[in-house]
Amino acid sequence: MDLETLVGAARDASTRAYAPYSDFRVGAAILTENGAIHTGCNVENASYGLAICAERNAAAAMALASPDDREIRLVAVYSPDASPCFPCGACRQVLREFGCKEVIVEEASGLRRYPFEEILPHAFGPEDL
Ligand code: THU
Repeated sequence: MDLETLVGAARDASTRAYAPYSDFRVGAAILTENGAIHTGCNVENASYGLAICAERNAAAAMALASPDDREIRLVAVYSPDASPCFPCGACRQVLREFGCKEVIVEEASGLRRYPFEEILPHAFGPEDL
């Protein structure tokens, strides 16, 4: 998988963000271990606290579309409104649920890959139950 393709999918998803309250658009693209790509954008609500991040919407799309392929190899996150745009804490935990191994963000110097353990160390996960 070409990383540019995955980041392109995240970029494309960010154009569909529904963010009338924050004006902060985000797109996420998940690559599964079997090579599928699932995308999501943030979707806000007049009841502000109900906003859902791009990463969690991408994870929900994955869960629905590929019940037999829910291992996340990596996730690319992109926002035209912030560079880099890292997943929030809640999204890190949700990505962790599906074994996410790496996060890719676009920095001024280019694409940068972060091992998941680096952005959510000592995580609580399904194997702890
Ligand atoms: N947001 C995301 O979609 N992903 C992130 O990683 C950070 C924040 C959204 C939530 C909200 O719609 C807007 O960005 C501002 O917080």
